[in-house]
Amino acid sequence: RRQHYPALLFSFLLHCLCFPCVFFNLLAVGSPLVMDPNSICRKTKRLVGKQNELCQTQPEIVSEVAKGARLGVRECQYQFRYRRWNCTSHNKYFGKILQQDIRETAFVYAITAAGVTHAVTQACSMGDLLQCGCEATRSRAPPRPPSSSSSGEGVKWEWGGCGDDVEFGYEKSKQFMDAKRRRGKSDIRALIDLHNNEAGRLAVKLYMRTECKCHGLSGSCTLRTCWKKMPHFREVGDRLLERFNGASKVMGGNDGKTLIPVGQNIKPPDKQDLIYSADSPDFCLANRKTGSLGTRGRMCNSTAMDVSGCDLLCCERGYREETVVFEENCLCRFHWCCVVQCKKCLVRKELSLCH
Ligand SMILES: *[C@@H]1O[C@H](CO)[C@@H](O)[C@H](O)[C@H]1NC(C)=O
Ligand SMILES: *[C@@H]1O[C@H](CO)[C@@H](O)[C@H](O)[C@H]1NC(C)=O
Repeated sequence: RRQHYPALLFSFLLHCLCFPCVFFNLLAVGSPLVMDPNSICRKTKRLVGKQNELCQTQPEIVSEVAKGARLGVRECQYQFRYRRWNCTSHNKYFGKILQQDIRETAFVYAITAAGVTHAVTQACSMGDLLQCGCEATRSRAPPRPPSSSSSGEGVKWEWGGCGDDVEFGYEKSKQFMDAKRRRGKSDIRALIDLHNNEAGRLAVKLYMRTECKCHGLSGSCTLRTCWKKMPHFREVGDRLLERFNGASKVMGGNDGKTLIPVGQNIKPPDKQDLIYSADSPDFCLANRKTGSLGTRGRMCNSTAMDVSGCDLLCCERGYREETVVFEENCLCRFHWCCVVQCKKCLVRKELSLCH
């Protein structure tokens, strides 16, 4: 069975967890190669121990893991699109970010682990994997109504449909993402990465929603079947961005095995919080060492007061206005059946670009 999937990203994923993250260099999102998982596993000779074993024994899952990692990186780019650091991944600067222990690193780890959880679970529900399927609900207690609505009276509830088996995706994400730590990383940094991986997985697992469907003659709803669905991945990204904004700084305890919050009277971070140990650079100027591309030439919003505003995004260097004209589809009409015909319009747009 041949499959499309981002082989380069895949190779990043496996290497990056075992070795220094220079392999992000290879990450060319958007250039999927046709390859089967087995040949990928053979190609990645540098895999060692646990991950090689996973690659050999579970090639189909490996390909879902790769999809998940890509889902995570894409979401990262969406969430950071208006920020100084925007999660641009196809350059060697990204690898630099991953070698640090700053908030941005925490976010990338968390969203990747979340993406893997999500993608593997999704593949189970779609019937794409032999190892898993819909959630087993037989042994479960009967569901409670999702909202204690008045219509709950006398309606029988059952688990049914196809619930997402998030437990399976969670375990696979754990196996792959936590398998082996990067070489040369201290215990403390490894602990931080593991914590953020788990925070990412929990951002999926703890936010399952219940969906139900009515059965019965003409919508009488004498029986309802319900199943568990994962949150949309956008929601996961939104939640992790909140955790990014409120991330906790930690340092290693004397025993080298515990993390303690930095600062007085700061409550210890819980399992869902993102943690970091080093302050981020300001990302204003390009800097090879910190993995900053700088914000020169970036589009900013001259009226916004938040991080997307020109003052903050351009680091007070100022900006220039530029008018761009581009062609757009417009006045589209639907012709029965089934063609959409559009005209081409010239659209003028004012852009603000950082100096
Ligand atoms: C992200 O930032 C880089 C470097 O400043 C820039 O080249 C790129 O266009 C930005 N990407 C987006 C989607 O804005
Ligand atoms: C710029 O910021 C303003 C104010 O926050 C907002 O209403 C507007 O939609 C933004 N424009 C763009 C292009 O994002």
